Amino acid sequence: MERMVGRVLVIVPTYNERENLPVIVERVRAAVPEAHLLVADDASPDGTGEIADGLAAQDDHVHVLHRPGKQGLGAAYIAGFRWGLAEGYDVLVEMDADGSHQPEELPKLLHALADGADLSIGSRWVPGGKVVNWPGSRELLSRGANVYTRIMLGMPVRDATAGFRAYRASTLEKIGLDDVESQGYCFQVDLTLRTVRHGLRVAEVPITFVERTVGASKMSRDVIAEALWRVTLWGVTGLPRRLRRSR
Ligand code: GDD
Ligand code: MN
Repeated sequence: MERMVGRVLVIVPTYNERENLPVIVERVRAAVPEAHLLVADDASPDGTGEIADGLAAQDDHVHVLHRPGKQGLGAAYIAGFRWGLAEGYDVLVEMDADGSHQPEELPKLLHALADGADLSIGSRWVPGGKVVNWPGSRELLSRGANVYTRIMLGMPVRDATAGFRAYRASTLEKIGLDDVESQGYCFQVDLTLRTVRHGLRVAEVPITFVERTVGASKMSRDVIAEALWRVTLWGVTGLPRRLRRSR
C-alpha cells in the first residue's frame, strides 16, 4: 500500500472515547500495519488523552496531539492535518474513534487515491453504501443535510458530511487550511467544497457505517445550527459563480 500512495497518517479525533480508543487503534494497526495514527484529543475529561499516551508509549506508530479543550471536530482535524503535513506524510486520513468507520475498509479508500483521486470519501449514500443501527431520525438528518447541501452548493457528491476520508497531502496544500472557520461537523462539507472548487478529483467509495455501541455521539444542536447557517452562506455567496458557469 505504501508503495502505491506513500506514507499514511490516520487522524482520530477524540472527546470522551476511553473505551473505544484502544479498540480502534488495534484495528487500524491490524488492517493497515504501515500506517501511523495520530490521536487528536481535546482534553477529554474521561482520561482518553492519558490512554492515548499509554498506547503511544507502547507503539512507535501511534502519536498524540493534546489540545487544550473542546474546540470542535473541525479544529481538531485542522491541527492534525498541520501536524501530519509538517511530518511529511503523503496521505492524511480522517476516521472516527467509535468504530463507526471500519479500519478494514480503509484500503478501499487508499486504492481510490492510487487510482487518481485527490480525495476519497467513504460514502454511505452511494449504491453499496450502508448504515447499520441508526435510528430513523438520524438517517433523516444525514440524508436531509446531504440533499440540502447538494441543492445549495451544487456539488456532485452524495455524502458530503461523511467523516471517513483520505486526502492526498497535495490536496490539503492546494486548498489551504489557514482560512477554514468551520468548527463542527460542517467542516466536512467545507473541505469537500474547497476540493471541488479547486477542480480536484473526488471519488466516493461505498462503506458500511456502523453506529457506535459504546459512549455517546457529540452531535448537538449547535453542530446542526452551525452547519445550516454556513452551508446556506456558502450557497448564497457561491451563487454568482454557479450562474457564470451554467451560462
Ligand atoms: N477532538 C475532538 N473534539 N473530537 C471530537 C469532537 C471535538 O470537539 N467532537 C467529536 N469528536 C470525535 C468523537 O470523539 C469521535 O471520535 C468523532 O469525532 C465522531 O464523533 P461522533 O459524535 O461519534 O459523530 P457522529 O457519529 O454523531 O457523526 C458521524 O457522522 C457525521 C455526519 O455524517 C461522524 O462520522 C462525523 O464525522 C460526520 O460528520
Ligand atoms: Mn459516531
